[in-house]
Amino acid sequence: MNHILKSQVRQAVSIIKNGGIIAFPTETVYGLGANVFDKKAIQKIFDAKNRPADNPLIVHISSLEMLNQLVTYISPKNKKLIDAFWPGPLGIVFPKSEFVPDIVTAGLDTVVIRFPDHPIAQYFISECNIPIAAPSVNPSGKPSSTHHNHIIDYFGKNVFVIEGDFSTIGLESSVITTINKPTILRQGTISQADIQNILKVPIYIAEKNTSTVQSPGMKYKHYAPNAPIKLIPLEENIISIIQDYIKDEYRIGALVSSENYTQLPPNSIGFNLGSQNDYAEISAHLYDGLHFFDSQNIDIIIAESFQPIGIGVAIMDRLSRAASTH
Ligand code: TXA
Ligand code: MG
Repeated sequence: MNHILKSQVRQAVSIIKNGGIIAFPTETVYGLGANVFDKKAIQKIFDAKNRPADNPLIVHISSLEMLNQLVTYISPKNKKLIDAFWPGPLGIVFPKSEFVPDIVTAGLDTVVIRFPDHPIAQYFISECNIPIAAPSVNPSGKPSSTHHNHIIDYFGKNVFVIEGDFSTIGLESSVITTINKPTILRQGTISQADIQNILKVPIYIAEKNTSTVQSPGMKYKHYAPNAPIKLIPLEENIISIIQDYIKDEYRIGALVSSENYTQLPPNSIGFNLGSQNDYAEISAHLYDGLHFFDSQNIDIIIAESFQPIGIGVAIMDRLSRAASTH
């Protein structure tokens, strides 16, 4: 880690210890962090994001010792998940200990914990020596930040940022509960099949409409750029649809794979997500594309669909939520 980053981490740690909030990189998306035990600091996160008070935060740790202060019980299933996927992009629901303030969990008796697989995040949390509650860094309802420049666009100089460049995964973590029926509450790059392979029991997916109760955050408007998004089904010809819109004098933003990017008509504004053969590349670029269009003078974003296979499930989850909020 270079000395600029080290000094940014030092500054961030001091802000946290003084009851402030800071943004830090993780492998999924950037997090807006505060000392989990400091209720006033946690309130600053909700205020900065304009986040509804009934949407709980994920708590980030940098060692398994930190887990013990936060939870009352680690079930055998959760132990297996920890061994298989931590550090990594999986948030796990646990029964919370009395030390976790209610404001963090929105009054629930459970808490979601994640151990990020990112050297700067781990270094920052271990230097704080305190678990860090952190949602994604965006005004509530907007796409998460996957680069420090996205945070400047959203919050200007109001939020101190550890500048960690691009998040390599680019989508928020998968969130799972194994309390009662094992259920994925939020899709991410760790898939239903990945988890099933470890737990050897059926894994359910929280349905969009009923997930309200299980995962409060999923009921809110999400991932929405300024312009409306039209998500084109796989079986339709996205290039000819874009041509039709241009004939009707729409200013088009095209959020597409490199295969379609090269076919775009000249008077559309394209964003190249990467190859259809590499969904990790598509997921890493998705939010950068949504951010890009917020700075463009367009009427509508025409977005390509991807196969709901592997990471494609999480990509399509985000795209369809972003498209359904207008
Ligand atoms: O990848 C990530 O998880 C990122 C980075 C920063 O780690 N964090 C993130 O946090 O996406 P946030 O706050 O934007 O999303 C947290 C999600 C929400 O959907 C929330 O409802 C759910 O986790 N959640 C948090 N605590 C919960 C709980 N006790 N039970 C069920 N769902 C919970
Ligand atoms: Mg979020």
